[in-house]
Amino acid sequence: MSALAVTRSGQPLPPLDVAAWTQGHLARVEAALGRWVGHGAPAGLGEAMRYAVLDGGKRLRPLLVLAAHEAASSAHPAEADGQSEAALRAACAVELIHAYSLVHDDMPCMDNDVLRRGKPTVHVQFGQAQALLAGDALQAYAFELLAPDEADARVPVAVQAALCRLLARAAGSAGMAGGQAIDLASVGVALSEDQLRHMHRLKTGALLQGSVLMGAVCGECAPAPYQALADYGAAVGLAFQVVDDILDVVADSATLGKTAGKDAAADKPTYVSLLGLAPAQAYARQLLDEALGALERSGLPDTRAMAALAELVVRRSH
Ligand code: IPE
Ligand code: IPE
Ligand code: MG
Ligand code: MG
Ligand code: MG
Repeated sequence: MSALAVTRSGQPLPPLDVAAWTQGHLARVEAALGRWVGHGAPAGLGEAMRYAVLDGGKRLRPLLVLAAHEAASSAHPAEADGQSEAALRAACAVELIHAYSLVHDDMPCMDNDVLRRGKPTVHVQFGQAQALLAGDALQAYAFELLAPDEADARVPVAVQAALCRLLARAAGSAGMAGGQAIDLASVGVALSEDQLRHMHRLKTGALLQGSVLMGAVCGECAPAPYQALADYGAAVGLAFQVVDDILDVVADSATLGKTAGKDAAADKPTYVSLLGLAPAQAYARQLLDEALGALERSGLPDTRAMAALAELVVRRSH
C-alpha cells in the first residue's frame, strides 16, 4: 500500500490512519443522512424510510465515493467550488439506492428475509405495501439529492447530470435491478462461472463501481486515471459479492445482522457453491490484487483510502 502513496512531487506520504479516516467520513455521512432522509413524508412512510436507512449498515458505498473523490482531487492543486458538497450528496444518494435495494431484496417475493442490519426487515416492521413504497421513495429521493436547487448547494449542473447518469445506470436494468432479475431466475440453476460473474457484476458490482466513478467525477478525474478507477471499481465490486457469498456460509446471523445460510437453503448459485470455499476465498484475494494494481496504474498521488477500502471489502467479517 505504501508504494502507492506518494505526493505530486514524488515524496512518500505517511501511512493513512484508516480508523480515523473512516470515523471522520462516516460521521459526515451519518449526519447528512439523518438530516436529509424521510422528512416531510407522510408519517408511516417517512418512518419506514428512516428505519431502512439509519442505524445500521457499513456505509461502504458512501466511503468509496468519498475515497475516490479524494484520490481524484489529489491530482489537482486546489479543489473547485462545490466539489465536496457534490461528493457528500453522491455518497448519500448511493446509500439510499443501496438501502432501497435491501428493502426490496428482503421482501417475500424476493429473498423473504426477516432480519437486516440486526433489526426486523422493513416489511416485517411496517408491512409489505409500506416497504415497497419506502423503497420507491428512497430511490426517487436519491436523484433529488443529486440535483439540488442552486439555493441549497453549488454543484455545477454538468456534474449533477453526470452523477444522475452514473447512478441510474448502476441501479437500473443494466446494473442492480438487472442483476436481481438474473438472481431470481437462477434459483436451482447451475450457472457457468461466466454467468455467475455476470450476475454478480450486475446485482452488486455495478453500484460499487458506480460509487467509485461518482467520486471520480466529483474530483474532476482525467480520462486515464478514470479508466483505472473503473477497473478498481469492477474488481472491488465483484470481490464484494464473492465475499458476501462466503460470509453467508462461514459467518453466523448475529455477526452478519442478517440470516446466515440463506443461499444454500434457497438453492442460489454462489461462488461457494460453484468453486468451493477455499477457491472462492482465493478468487477474492486475486480480485483484491487486481484492485490494488489498478490504483497503482491510475497514477493518482493519494489512493491510500481506496487501497484500505479494497482490503476491508475482502478481509471483512460481516
Ligand atoms: C449487502 O450489502 C447486500 C449486497 C449487495 C451483498 P452490505 O453488506 O454492504 O450491507 P450493509 O449496507 O452493510 O447493511
Ligand atoms: C443482494 O444480494 C444484492 C442486492 C442488490 C440487494 P444478496 O441477496 O446476496 O444480499 P443479502 O445477502 O441478502 O444481503
Ligand atoms: Mg438477493
Ligand atoms: Mg438477500
Ligand atoms: Mg448474500
